[in-house]
Amino acid sequence: MLQPEQSVKSRDWRFVLIAVIAGLGGLLFGYGTGVVAGVLLFLAHDFQLNGSMQGLFVAVALAGAALGAAISGLLADRWGRRRILLATAALFVFGSLLAALANSVALLFLGRAFLGLAIGTASTVTPLYLAEITTPERRGAIVTINQLYISIGIFISYGVDLLFSDFGSGWRWMLGFGALPALMLFVGMWILPESPRWLIRQGLIDRAKSALQYLRSTALVAEELESLQQGNANTEPMALRSLFNNWKLRRLMVIAVGLAVFQQITGINIVLYYAPKILQETGLSSPFMAILATGGIGLVNVLATIISMRFLDSLGRRKLLLWGLWGMLISLLALSLEFLTNLQGALGAALIVVTSAVFVAFFAMSLGPIFWLLISEIFPLAIRGRAMSLATVINWLSNMLVAGVFLDLVGAIGRGATFLIYALITFLAILFTLKLVPETKGLSLEEIERQFISIP
Ligand code: BGC
Repeated sequence: MLQPEQSVKSRDWRFVLIAVIAGLGGLLFGYGTGVVAGVLLFLAHDFQLNGSMQGLFVAVALAGAALGAAISGLLADRWGRRRILLATAALFVFGSLLAALANSVALLFLGRAFLGLAIGTASTVTPLYLAEITTPERRGAIVTINQLYISIGIFISYGVDLLFSDFGSGWRWMLGFGALPALMLFVGMWILPESPRWLIRQGLIDRAKSALQYLRSTALVAEELESLQQGNANTEPMALRSLFNNWKLRRLMVIAVGLAVFQQITGINIVLYYAPKILQETGLSSPFMAILATGGIGLVNVLATIISMRFLDSLGRRKLLLWGLWGMLISLLALSLEFLTNLQGALGAALIVVTSAVFVAFFAMSLGPIFWLLISEIFPLAIRGRAMSLATVINWLSNMLVAGVFLDLVGAIGRGATFLIYALITFLAILFTLKLVPETKGLSLEEIERQFISIP
């Protein structure tokens, strides 16, 4: 008989294909956030939005995402992961169409708010579902399908923005296009089973067994079911406040929140979203070249995520995170130096593009995927959804904060000093990781729970 902590070695690739469908939630996240830059450029054709209204347009989706993230964990713990992913996909289709067809600013903003809600929900529940359907020895790669889709979503959004940039009302197509992956997710999740771990927690053992049979189709299902049942037996229900009252849970919360904040305040979205503007100001005068260079950086983001999937389960989370953070630190210092010395012209722009790409590559191999992976692993099943929600809300709020203050910060202290601050924060992230971040490679979720929580 298998012990809970033993991994169920499965040579069955069926659930990998399933994860490829379920991970589409990440595509909504990436596309939904990435498409804004292009939309904003062309909205003026139909609506006259001044600077602060444009800021509000961006903020509405980010605030919606924070709200979506806040409620999604509670809903996923209560109603199941699958139902919430289905609802998320439906909401995304609705929001995309509402915004794309809007004939007034109010409807446009309403559609964008719904989209934000769906993006926030997807950002929590996708890694949660992926972590719970996989086996320990592949969990790093499988959960990172979410991050891979985020990066692909961002990359596709650049392409769609470029494709429709010549149309008068191209922004409508840019927004409407998002309905397509959402529809694919909806159809996919209709067919896929609920998370077996969530079913076991609800006492629905027969359904958990059928879900495992669907996911694995190997003779080992009975053993895995038994090990999951043993691992999840006798776990008390947990109230949200135990995340703050119980010191073991509080420690896990500090790790999750710390990584959530560091993931954003080390500047990733500044590099990803302000790159064309920075490049144009450096001397890459053609907007086409600036967008092309940004596309190149987006592609590096995708490729580096694939590399991380190869190593997360062999090197481990901690080592990869530390190496990646050092790489980010060095490239941020280089960027800061490039801005401080006021590099100009084609050569200067090329150097900035390459350094930015190196920074993005290190992020995509470390802090990008590992934040989402660790928050899906370290919390006990009884409170996993709600704890992930909290960490994800903090991630979205930090995202808003960094985007909100970037231009003012550059205005006040200049670009070089701003990137120096990101570098210093990255150094703090290294110290934080060295002191607090645990290794979870190869352990089953039940074993992680026993190690971090149950053993006195
Ligand atoms: C972050 C996003 C970021 C993306 C870039 C994600 O892990 O949460 O804020 O835009 O990575 O690929």
